[in-house]
Amino acid sequence: MADIRSIDELDARGKRVLVRVDLNTPVKDGKVTDDTRIRAALPTIEKLMQDGGRVILVSHVGRPAGTGFEEAYSIAPIADRLGELLGCSVARAEDVTGPSAHAVVQAMEDGDVVILENVRFDAREKKNDAVFARELADLADAYVNDAFGTAHRAHASTAGVAELLPSYAGYLMQREVGTLTSMLDDPKRPFVAVLGGSKVSDKIKVIDALLDKADVLIIGGAMCFTFLMAEGCGVGKSLVEPDWVERAHDMMAKAKRNGVRLLLPVDVIVAEAMAEDAQTFAVSVKEIPDGSMGLDIGPETAEIYADAIKKAASVFWNGPMGVFEMKPFEAGTRKVAEAIAANREADTIIGGGDSVAAVNQFGVADQMTFISTGGGASMELVQGEVLPGVEALAR
Ligand code: 3PG
Repeated sequence: MADIRSIDELDARGKRVLVRVDLNTPVKDGKVTDDTRIRAALPTIEKLMQDGGRVILVSHVGRPAGTGFEEAYSIAPIADRLGELLGCSVARAEDVTGPSAHAVVQAMEDGDVVILENVRFDAREKKNDAVFARELADLADAYVNDAFGTAHRAHASTAGVAELLPSYAGYLMQREVGTLTSMLDDPKRPFVAVLGGSKVSDKIKVIDALLDKADVLIIGGAMCFTFLMAEGCGVGKSLVEPDWVERAHDMMAKAKRNGVRLLLPVDVIVAEAMAEDAQTFAVSVKEIPDGSMGLDIGPETAEIYADAIKKAASVFWNGPMGVFEMKPFEAGTRKVAEAIAANREADTIIGGGDSVAAVNQFGVADQMTFISTGGGASMELVQGEVLPGVEALAR
């Protein structure tokens, strides 16, 4: 982040600092059910408070209609949890840039923290509307972006406002971009990338990019069936994207050209239905029955993948190996998660999304070197795209 100012360069004392955070967290029955993103935002918030700044937090929650307040997407439960973690009360505005926001900000003292309502309650946010960006900027003297999880969105609170105020990157933003960038620029070798998930079409750019960086590329999840089809296997009722078979072919050819070991399953767990009480069988990928669908990698494959991971000096993981939320299909993802956790010598980076849920489910999250708080953002960064939220901070 060469030409981006760090908050360490900001003299926050007495200043109103608008801090874009990504507190888009799951909420059930008015309570936050996973506070990972709130905790990840604390170092920046606490530093600014300790420096005597007036910290004005702004975040989106979910994808509301953009037509004003919606209870289901209110920031309120998140503000409560944040207050518990900070050990102080967090005043909450009832709007984003309206009279309530101005009143709450007006009442602040040095070292206070307040939070605005869900920024997506205003439809102008996602349009990166210049007037809305100006309204946000008018609340503050400086801007900090710490919302790595939303850095792939060019919205008013992530991009537009950065043009209007002296702008800085928060600690989480710096750590996320720094870790992922150095993994891509100078990985410890062998560098093993593990990709799963259901669709090749969603991951094709990441696969393509990693074939230029990794030594070994492991493929799991339902997207393996498109690759297996490209290899001439019958895939039964498994989820497959016939239109992407040719691209899968191209990727296999690219792996060969680049000397990357591309690992595909040799066996899979099949069932007639995706259900908790399904009867399951491990079969060779050459013998997937017509009436069955593959829902996890098989035990032989899991051993091969674990062995490759064991020999890695750095590992990047995004996407589960199977339907790990269901007991009958969790073994492959569990084996991969445990193999990554067991390799204590390697840099192990979890690239957001479902893989984070998996390392949490299998109790190995604290054994990873780094867990990204951004699913979409980390994928876009890995596939070589410029993140608008980061670009907007450049001097
Ligand atoms: C996420 O959860 O991936 C981020 O908060 C971004 O959310 P969005 O996909 O709704 O922009």
